[in-house]
Amino acid sequence: MSDEKKYSSIHYGSYLGLDKILNAQEPRSKQVGQEAHEETLFIIVHQVYELWFKQILHEVSSVMELFKTKNVDEKNIDIAVLRLERVNEILKLLIQQIRVIETMTPLDFLDFRSYLFPASGFQSFQFRKLEVMLGLKIEKRISYTPYHYYHEFSEENQKEIVELESQESLFTLIESWLERTPFIDLKGFDFKSKYMTAVEHMINRERDAIQNSDYLSEQEKAMRLKMNGDSNTFFANVFNEDFHNQMIAEGKMRLSYKATIAALLIELYGTEPLLQLPYRLLNVITEMDELLTGWRYRHAQMVMRMLGRKSGTGGSSGHDYLMETVKKHQIFIDFHNISTLLIPRSELPELPLEIKKALGYHFNYSN
Ligand code: HEM
Repeated sequence: MSDEKKYSSIHYGSYLGLDKILNAQEPRSKQVGQEAHEETLFIIVHQVYELWFKQILHEVSSVMELFKTKNVDEKNIDIAVLRLERVNEILKLLIQQIRVIETMTPLDFLDFRSYLFPASGFQSFQFRKLEVMLGLKIEKRISYTPYHYYHEFSEENQKEIVELESQESLFTLIESWLERTPFIDLKGFDFKSKYMTAVEHMINRERDAIQNSDYLSEQEKAMRLKMNGDSNTFFANVFNEDFHNQMIAEGKMRLSYKATIAALLIELYGTEPLLQLPYRLLNVITEMDELLTGWRYRHAQMVMRMLGRKSGTGGSSGHDYLMETVKKHQIFIDFHNISTLLIPRSELPELPLEIKKALGYHFNYSN
């Protein structure tokens, strides 16, 4: 006898709860008097977003669980990458969906907009949960209300989000995982000085190219050389832990020193077999951050088209507030900034055989 529990047969409609979902569109304009045709579209588009937010939260929280253990199994990194790739495909859909709402004209919107006050996407609990889970810190939020954003929610939801704020986020979990990765210990290979020599070559080559240019005026050359000098200082500080910590203290960076070095190594040597999965993980997270920022930007553009300079139903300045969030609510910016530190493959310090072996497929080194 199998242990499987008995289950009754089910109908398509009841399995999907269609009774609830398909009866959940109640245009306010209809209740008030004259139904505005586009209000149904407005409601359905928001509902579809919320359903996708639910799926994204389901994926992100499961990925966070995988990283809550001290030793993250490699198989789990693969699972995390696959799930976050799914999130990214959903985010692409969410960006495209803005086109659907843009088939409504600003005048169509005005037929029912006045019935919406003070409701706003600003009150989307799932969207806020996602931001908090990814790692947006409350002190970094742009606020246009005299109270914290979570006061918009029911008491139960407020409790949940305040609790979430105090817990690990995807950012801090990935940061700790990077800090723990064993491959930062390169067993006697002086990566730091070899990398710095390679950086010097790169910078000198760029400086020579500027100085020898036939196209640039002396003034342009001086300006570019100054900029080159600035990036020189930047590179010189890469391995200066105190400087790094100073940047963190000033709020200019967030990712810890150790995690930054680990991420740099993964980006530089990501084609080594053992680093391929970590490399894909960092990339899928960076892409997720980019897509979410892309959504914020598209939403802000759409709002400009719909409302011009009008303020939002939630009480913000509208487009200007949303554009500020594009710039300031990006969470994994330090992951993108690793690219500043990259050097051409041709300059990359060769890894000693011992380390290559440790990072490679063993059958390649059987002789
Ligand atoms: C005609 C269409 C839309 C207009 C005019 C619009 C307008 C706005 C405005 C002005 C804000 C800023 C807060 C406020 O003052 O109300 C806002 C925030 C927001 N909207 Fe929309 N929106 C539209 C469609 C959507 C859709 C389809 C979604 C999908 C869920 C959405 C999700 C959000 C979210 C999550 C926020 C909070 C953003 C943040 O604070 O970072 N909006 N919206």
